[in-house]
Amino acid sequence: MKKKIKIALLGFGTVGKGIYYSLKNHPKRISKTIGFEIEVVSIVVKHLEKHQDFEDNKLITTDFETVIQNPEIDIVLEAIVGKEPAFSYLSQSIKAGKHIITANKEMFAHHGEELLELSQKHDVNIGFEATTAGGIPVINTIGKLFQFNEIKKITAILNGTSNYILTQMRVQKLPFNIALKQAQELGYAEADPTNDIEGYDSFYKLMILGQLIYGKQPDWSSVNREGIVNITAKEIEDYNLEDKRIKHIASLELQDNTLTASVKPVVISSEHPLYSIEGVENAVVIEGDVVGQITLSGPGAGAFPTASAMLEDLCLILQSERSTTSSPILAKAIL
Ligand code: HSE
Repeated sequence: MKKKIKIALLGFGTVGKGIYYSLKNHPKRISKTIGFEIEVVSIVVKHLEKHQDFEDNKLITTDFETVIQNPEIDIVLEAIVGKEPAFSYLSQSIKAGKHIITANKEMFAHHGEELLELSQKHDVNIGFEATTAGGIPVINTIGKLFQFNEIKKITAILNGTSNYILTQMRVQKLPFNIALKQAQELGYAEADPTNDIEGYDSFYKLMILGQLIYGKQPDWSSVNREGIVNITAKEIEDYNLEDKRIKHIASLELQDNTLTASVKPVVISSEHPLYSIEGVENAVVIEGDVVGQITLSGPGAGAFPTASAMLEDLCLILQSERSTTSSPILAKAIL
């Protein structure tokens, strides 16, 4: 790979901006550590008019074809909401020989397997750390560092918005709608927050973990998926008086070769490892058969935590390009 790496961003909402400004604020960071300079050469958006005031608006285009037609673009970073056009854009990018990095959980839960197969065929890498648990490096930790252990169970808080709302309802006594509005203003919630509060977002993330750990997903129709919309302030307060908390918990377990999963509100007491996970934090409790229980926690949503996960993927891809052997997780087909 050449010394200067040209990248394209697909989508320029909260996360896209987080990537752009992280690179701008730390212009020498990647060249110092890995030896490549990074230049954002194209930003593909849906609505040009929303970005008129952007300082570098010559980079903005609605024409994805310009990315595909530009052989100088090495890596495509995608942070669009929903399956399409993200899946088509990324498939075309792979076929054009470009590495891809995605934060798109809905798209990756549906099409991750297909994209990984395609990436092997075209000898490019896929980074998908940002799809699951925001800034927590759970994908690379599990993919790289849980090779010997068999993971028996995952118990997790995977949606920052839901956890933020439940925390604000309990601690600040805020009504659901006000807490949701705050989560939107802080850039945690999706533009349409239905997926956050109805449990779909956590569900997609859990399916990605299932695919990564077990090479398969549970039958989607067998998964009990409930959101947080029916939880009342009174319930939260009553449990709080008993030192209990309602948390929105995603769990996945392998029993007798069958994967079972659920995504739903659960009442937990103070000894539970997810009890103290508050606000926008996410956490993933991993139960390995040799190591025992490990909990990873950190910011689960927001511009910079998600950008951080994508930029760490970018560094892994650059490292694997620089070394003769590829990076284990990124070169490994997880399916
Ligand atoms: N809306 C998501 C959340 C963003 O609240 O967790 C991070 O995937």
